[in-house]
Amino acid sequence: MRRKLVAGNWKMNGNLAMLAELDVIAAAAAAHPGVDVAVAVPATLIAAAASRVPTLAIGAEDVHEAESGAYTGCVSAAMVREAGARFTIVGHSERREYQNETSQDAWAKAAAARRQGLSVILCCGETGAERDAGRAERVVQAQIEKSLPEGASGDWLTIAYEPRWAIGTGRTPTLEDIAAIHAIARAKIRQLIGAAADDVRILYGGSVTGDNARAIMGVADVDGALVGGASLTAAKFVPIIEGAV
Ligand code: 13P
Repeated sequence: MRRKLVAGNWKMNGNLAMLAELDVIAAAAAAHPGVDVAVAVPATLIAAAASRVPTLAIGAEDVHEAESGAYTGCVSAAMVREAGARFTIVGHSERREYQNETSQDAWAKAAAARRQGLSVILCCGETGAERDAGRAERVVQAQIEKSLPEGASGDWLTIAYEPRWAIGTGRTPTLEDIAAIHAIARAKIRQLIGAAADDVRILYGGSVTGDNARAIMGVADVDGALVGGASLTAAKFVPIIEGAV
C-alpha cells in the first residue's frame, strides 16, 4: 500500500515571515499521520524552515548535479542537505522551460541527490502543444525513460506528473486523462525496474486545490499531489492534506 504524499512547492515565493504558514501545515500533518506531507522552499529558507518545523519534511526545489565546484549561483545536494533538506524536486517543468534543463539533467540531479541521502521528486509532463498533438503519453514515457535514476525505488524516489499547461492556470486534465497518464507512467517504470515500480509514488501536479484534491487523489495510481500556488498558505494547503485522507 502506497501512502499518499502531499508536497508543496513554493517556487520563487516566500520569506522568513511566511514560515509561520508552516507551523499550521505541520500541525495539520501531525493531525493526519496517515498522510505524508512535505514542502519544498527556496534555498534561502531551507535552514530556517527545517529548524522551525522539525517534524515537517522540508526540501529543496532543485540541486546541481555536481558535489561542488565553479558553478556560480548553483546549490549542491550536499549543501541543501546540510541546511536541513530531506528531499529535492528535480526536472520541474519551470527548470526545463526557463533553464533549458533536459531529462538527462534531471537524471544526473536525481543521482546526485541520492548520493547525499536525499529523497527525490522527479517531475515529468507534456506541454499543451504536445497534448494537442496527441503526444502526451509518448512524451511522459520518454521523459521517465531518460530520467529515471539508477537504483530507483519507492523508499527514496517519487514521480510527479505535471502537465505544463495545467501549472498555475486553473485548468486540469479530466480524471480520465490523469488516470491514463498515471497508468502509462506506472507501466513504464515497471518496464524499467520491475515489480519495485509498485512502491514508487506517482503524484499529480497542476492547479490542485482544496476543491479538486480529493477527486484527483482518488484516481487509480495517483498517490498524492505536488502543489504550487495552493501550498503558499496553510488556509489553502491544509484542505488538500485533508483531501488525501
Ligand atoms: P500550481 O499548483 O500552482 O499549478 O503549480 C504546480 C506545480 O508546478 C508544482 O510543482
